[in-house]
This record gives sequence, C-alpha cells and structure tokens, in this order.
Amino acid sequence: MAQEKFLWWQQDVIYQIYPRSFQDTNGDGIGDLKGIIQKLDYLSWLGIDVIWLSPVYPSPMKDFGYDISNYTDVHPVFGSMEDFELLVARIHALGMKLILDLVPNHTSDEHPWFIESRSSRDNAKRNWYIWVDPREDGSAPNNWLSVFGGDAWQWDEHTRQYYYHAFLKEQPDLNWRNPQVQQAMLNVMRFWLDKGVDGFRVDVMWHMIKDSQLRDNPPNPDYTELQPDYNKLLPVYSTDQPEVHDIVRLMRNLVDSYGKKVIIGEIYLPIEKLVVYYGVNNLGAHLPFNFQLLTLPWQATQIATAIDLYEGALPVNGWPNWVLGNHDQQRIASRVGMHQARVAAMLLLTLRGTPTIYYGEEISMMDVPIEKEQIQDPQGLNMPGKNLSRDPARTPMPWDASDFGGFSNATPWLPLGRNYKRVNVQVQQNDPYSMLSFYRKLIQIRKKEPALRIGNYRPVHSDHQLISYTREWEEEKFLVVLNLTHAVSYFDPPHVQINGTIVASTHNELEGMYVNGAIYLGGDEGILVKLNDISSL
Ligand code: NOJ
Repeated sequence: MAQEKFLWWQQDVIYQIYPRSFQDTNGDGIGDLKGIIQKLDYLSWLGIDVIWLSPVYPSPMKDFGYDISNYTDVHPVFGSMEDFELLVARIHALGMKLILDLVPNHTSDEHPWFIESRSSRDNAKRNWYIWVDPREDGSAPNNWLSVFGGDAWQWDEHTRQYYYHAFLKEQPDLNWRNPQVQQAMLNVMRFWLDKGVDGFRVDVMWHMIKDSQLRDNPPNPDYTELQPDYNKLLPVYSTDQPEVHDIVRLMRNLVDSYGKKVIIGEIYLPIEKLVVYYGVNNLGAHLPFNFQLLTLPWQATQIATAIDLYEGALPVNGWPNWVLGNHDQQRIASRVGMHQARVAAMLLLTLRGTPTIYYGEEISMMDVPIEKEQIQDPQGLNMPGKNLSRDPARTPMPWDASDFGGFSNATPWLPLGRNYKRVNVQVQQNDPYSMLSFYRKLIQIRKKEPALRIGNYRPVHSDHQLISYTREWEEEKFLVVLNLTHAVSYFDPPHVQINGTIVASTHNELEGMYVNGAIYLGGDEGILVKLNDISSL
C-alpha cells in the first residue's frame, strides 16, 4: 500500500486530556477549555497530532462528567460553547485534530430524557431506558451488578419498576434497542461533527446492548475478595451482545458521511472478542482500544506473546493501536516504575499501531496518594478498603515549580504530586535526559520515519527479559530491543546479523553508537537501531 493511502488516525499520535486536571485559567482549581487552548503550543511542540478530551458536557459530576445531563452543550466549569468553538479552530489551525468523548450507554439521572422517562409508565420516553417489573417476591429482575459496586437495578417507588444502571444509580442505561434512542444519539453526533470535531471515543461500547431476555449472569469462579464486587459475576449477558455491532455500524455510517473521521471504542474484552468490534469488512469501530499493555503483567514473554497474538488476530486491514494508561487506570510509571516507564514509552511509540498518550505520561507523572477524606471518585468511595479510587491517576498536571505547579492559582480539586517542583514540564523541557525530552524525540523520529508509523512488524526474539522486533518500510528497517527487567541482559539470538546505528535509547549515552553483532543491554534499557542492511534479520 502506498504511504498516502494511510489515514491520519493510523499515523498520528493521540493525547488524552482529562480537562479537570490540565490547566485552570479562572482560578476555581478545576481545569477548563481556555486552559487547554493555552497549552496547545506545548502539545504541538511535543508532536501531538490528535487530542481526545474526556467529557466537558453539562453534568452533575457524580462520575466527573461521565454522567451527562445535556449532550449538546459545555459545562460552565469548563467554559462556554464559544470557548469550545475557539478550541476547535485553534486545534485545526495548528494542523491538529480533536476527538470528543461520547457517552452513549447512559445519561445522568438529571438528563431531561430520564426525568421524563421516570415520570410515569406511559410517558413517551419510558422505553428510552431499561424499566423492568420486579420478580414476584419484589426483588430485582436479575442478579446483574453495577461496575461501581452493589446492585445494577434501582427501584423506583413512584412507578413501581426497576431501572438498570451499569454504573451509578445516577447513570441510568439507555435502551439502545429503541430506534428513537439511536436517532437521538446520532443527532448528538451530528451536532458535534457539524462543529468540526474529527471523531469520537465511545465510552463503554461493549455495554451498549444487553441480553433481550435479561438472563442472570453466571458466577465467576476466579473471584477473590480483593477484586471489585462487580467481578463476582461474569458479565456474559449484560455486555458484549451480538446486536451491539449493529449499533456500532450505525455510528460508523454516520461519521463516514462526514468524511475521514474516526471512531475509537472503549472496550475491555479479550483480544478474540475485541477484534470483532472492527466490524464486518472493517465497518465497525476504526480503533477498538487495545488495553493489553495496561492489563497484562509487565513481563517480557507475556507481553511479546500478547503483541504477536494481537497482530495475528487483527482482521485484514484492521489497524492496531496501543495504550499505556488512561483516567481509569493506574499510571504506567506507578505500575512498572520510573525506569521501566521509559522502556514502555519506547514500546508504545515503536509498535505498529496508533499510540494514545495519557496526559502526564510524557513527564512520568505517577499516581498521587489521596487522603481518605479527600477521595472523590465514586468507585473508590463505594468500595472502600479495596483501593479502587481512580483519583490518584487524575491529579493536576504540573507545569512548573510555582504554587500549585502552575496548574491553578487556587487549591486544585485534587492535590498535585508532592514532587511537582522537580517533576514538571518546565524542568523537563530544559533537560535533555528527561522523560519529556525522550518522549519528544521518539515522537519526532516516528513522524519522520514511515517504517515506524506504518511499516510492517516482525518479532525477532524474546525471552524472560527481552522483547525485540523489527519495523520495515521500503528501504528502511529498524530493530527495537527492550529490556523489561532491571537486570543486565544480553541480545544475541542465533542466526541474526545486526549491523546498524542506535538512533534512540532510554539512556541517551548510547545514541549514535554503532552496533555490530551481540548487544549488551543495561537494566531498564531499550534501543532503537537503524539497520544498515535491510536484508539482515
Ligand atoms: C468509562 C469511563 O472511562 C469511566 O471513567 C466512567 O466512569 C465509566 N465509563 C462510566 O461512564
């Protein structure tokens, strides 16, 4: 395939902004759209092409914006529609793109649709949500559990039925089997596409359709007490139903009618189920999020195997993608450690497929401990004692060493990391050895080298310490060797001739070095080698 045939969302680097924590400009301790506008030059300097914004819509904020009470406006805490339009214009002027978070599975219980729906059994919008009679003994229709703890059914005394909520009771699930709901949400998408957005990240895509008979979920034989309560059952009837693909197809048809847009699906499923979301003839989601790097143990053989299985499971012309973190997960630098986070960055930015960076990863932000009394995340509050709060990964971005890290001039909604005077953008921009300089370098090389953006992937060798693979496009070939352990390792697979120059390394000192034959790697070391002879390896 010719280089020009690849689309922007296949070649670009995506950056997720959690707007509450990026940059505050109005002194309320919460980030806003004007703050994002202020930081666009930084993102452009870093080499970011695409910004994905977590929700900025009006919301009671029970789940920090994932409980939407109006799909076609902006929450005043983030700014106004004028701010949003300016943001789109500025992003596009910089040659970047904007993806919005679409949360179609559920609304807030304060959304006018739900207020109407719950008002009476014969309301025209009753069937927009999932209302079900109790069982004979008055109990909930089935055993389904909420992801955020407790029962997934909420009794409504007024109309004497239960409604289903996969998340909080303040987040009732829409009934996607109802064509009126489908049309209403397509209209929401039209609204934002007409404003110029370049695509959507679709929240909990695999939840959107539930079993038509509402059958009980079976128990999970592997459940242990430390896991979230939700894991007690296997959600085989409440998620990933075959009819969901018709819905994804509807969304896809709509965005396709607007030109070259993208749909990214948030889907936590095993690979063989995940890849079904590409759809028949790849007419489903363009990018079903591949979360393996944030769910698998950080172990070389397991990761190498997962990469190969994923590559093998992709449908023909299905485009891969990789992620190290997001607002629901532990940060990568906390999970694998600061040193391995550099190796992880090299993996993310040299694998085949679209990379998504979570804000702060580029400065190796770590999870911030949050005092019990300060916990805000409902997941943490509802299941105390299990350490499930997502707040630690959502703390304000430290821009400099000034008060509150330059994020705000008021006390932020969540505390900054204690080390923000040392770990911040300004310090790292001036340090060639910093994580930020490393991210920027990798992104710039990726931009320059088609082999890294679109070239093919071939595994070379992996063992209990190392992963290695090549990326190749026309006359250029790169070898990546990553040491996923802290111990020294040795790369000398039989029948492999290496001859090339190190163009990037987790440890700057190696850059420019000529390699010929076996390679010794220090602990936590990774190298990107430009090979002299593309027929080798
Ligand atoms: C997935 C989002 O990423 C998460 O933050 C949210 O709590 C749930 N969906 C519910 O909307």
